[in-house]
Amino acid sequence: MNIVIFGPPGAGKGTQSKFIVKKYNLFQLSTGELLRNEIINKTDLGFKVSSIMNRGNLVSDNIVSDLIEKFISDRKYSNRLIFDGYPRNKIQAENLNVLLNKNNQKIDLVLKLSVSLDVIKKRIIGRSVCSICGKIYNEFFNPAPIKSDCCASKYLQKRSDDTLDIAISRFETYEISIKPVIDFYKESKLLKVVNGETPISEITDEISGLIDALKG
Ligand code: AP5
Repeated sequence: MNIVIFGPPGAGKGTQSKFIVKKYNLFQLSTGELLRNEIINKTDLGFKVSSIMNRGNLVSDNIVSDLIEKFISDRKYSNRLIFDGYPRNKIQAENLNVLLNKNNQKIDLVLKLSVSLDVIKKRIIGRSVCSICGKIYNEFFNPAPIKSDCCASKYLQKRSDDTLDIAISRFETYEISIKPVIDFYKESKLLKVVNGETPISEITDEISGLIDALKG
């Protein structure tokens, strides 16, 4: 099963993907994470994309396409991918279908997490990620455990694009580019809209119900 999950910045795509991956033995393919790794590893690509990401804009379709193609064509991940943050525009949505077709795969479910800008601001400002295990926390909604070897405060990191100004810019970019993607998946009847403003566990249960219904 291949799943697409999209939604505005801070909607909970990463949080939910990590639960789904564990429960259904899938792999999370986050284009944002792949790009951030390029920046951390100081690659040429990392230098190229860092200023774009820190303005809240999308990097070029070719760059992200090259990044995801490696995974789609790898048999280890065949029919086991959750696309987190890809596609973000119609060109990417069409390209994803082409790449999957080429590798005898398809998308089974598209999840759209809906969250308003007001909620998103707090989600982004309060977010930190454990640099050891990758767990995502939020100082307002789900703080890291006080007593933990792994997720101790010294290991919690903030993202450089998690400022209020950049979050608003990312939200505006999302609103403009995502409309054709929504139409695209509505037409193919794959789209399920999930309220992303309820508690994390409730959203996980709703998504699990949608996946279980497909598995039959
Ligand atoms: P990306 O890394 O994908 O960032 P994003 O889309 O802005 O999404 P986030 O990672 O910020 O949020 P999320 O939805 O995963 O939320 P999370 O689960 O962490 O992309 C970054 C940049 O890379 C882009 O701006 C662009 O430049 C570039 N890029 C990436 N993909 C691209 C593409 N395909 N094409 C072109 N450019 C691309 O949750 C957020 C916080 O809320 C956390 O603190 C969490 O604990 C909390 N939280 C989550 N759910 C809940 C809940 N239900 N209740 C309360 N708190 C919650």
